[in-house]
Amino acid sequence: MTDQQQTHQHGHRHGHGHDDAHMDWDVMAPLLELGAEVTSPIVDQAAVWLRERTEAAGLPKVRRLLDIGSGPGVGACQLARAFPEAEVVAVDGTPALLERTQARAAGLGLAERVRTHLADLPDGLATVGDADLIWSSMALHHIGDQESAVAGLGQALRPGGLLAIAEGGLPMRVLPRDIGFGRPGLHSRLDALNEDWFNEMRAGLPGAKEAVEDWPGFLAAAGLTDVRSRTFLVDLPAPLGADARAYVQAQLARQHEAAEERLDAEDRAALGRLLDPEDPQGLMRRPDVFLLSARTVHTAVKPA
Ligand SMILES: C[S@@+](CC[C@H](N)C(=O)[O-])C[C@H]1O[C@@H](n2cnc3c(N)ncnc32)[C@H](O)[C@@H]1O
Repeated sequence: MTDQQQTHQHGHRHGHGHDDAHMDWDVMAPLLELGAEVTSPIVDQAAVWLRERTEAAGLPKVRRLLDIGSGPGVGACQLARAFPEAEVVAVDGTPALLERTQARAAGLGLAERVRTHLADLPDGLATVGDADLIWSSMALHHIGDQESAVAGLGQALRPGGLLAIAEGGLPMRVLPRDIGFGRPGLHSRLDALNEDWFNEMRAGLPGAKEAVEDWPGFLAAAGLTDVRSRTFLVDLPAPLGADARAYVQAQLARQHEAAEERLDAEDRAALGRLLDPEDPQGLMRRPDVFLLSARTVHTAVKPA
């Protein structure tokens, strides 16, 4: 249940079920959406801080906000509520996710302010226009050259604007270290496999560039100032509600799919039990399943 870079906490990162850079974003849409809903406290908390940051930067009103790699639009709609004077543009390379975004915005009465823009990054950055606030959550690690993507976003900022990049954090935890069967520490072993998967995914990206993943350093190199990072928690204690439990089950199933061949027989058997909806010790039935995760948001200001 990794989420290294807390990258893809909402699903995608852990066990995408792929061993290369290709992601089936269409197929992942329901899981991305459920994950973003379940972990929505992270964006709500981050938005409060971003408001403080924009005000401190001398931007009392955010008029135009870009969400880069917006996925199904859960975060874009949260940000639209947090910045009620902003036009929010959800930018993504997957049409099906932008359709979900439109449907969500309409359902929440936000259709007037939440727009969508189809663009493949990094080249598509040239088409997104400028903004007072640019948010990007768990999308930039799908770009081969992350540092240059950050620089491109910095260029799109209006003077005095704020760039906020949610990448990294802590792997998601959903179970005790010892779950009563199998070898204790399954979580950590899955995390290690997920790290391998992540490395392979990044190595296969077009224009993949190896670099120290120093997001604050990337922001500073882009000419932005007042670089600050904060980490936000999603802490759903046991017993989990139905949506969070379904998300945990789906995430673990993806990890299982991605890592099955690399797990030893004991861990495979333990995961099989956890994923069996009929097993009283499975994720869908056991009372001790929780959800704890953290995502880091790196921010910086464009000099006026
Ligand atoms: C893990 S999801 C993150 C979704 C959302 N930001 C969130 O935090 O829940 C990554 C998103 O980035 C988009 N994406 C990945 N690579 C992209 C690219 N090269 N150009 C445009 N969008 C891309 C995917 O379509 C997907 O919606």
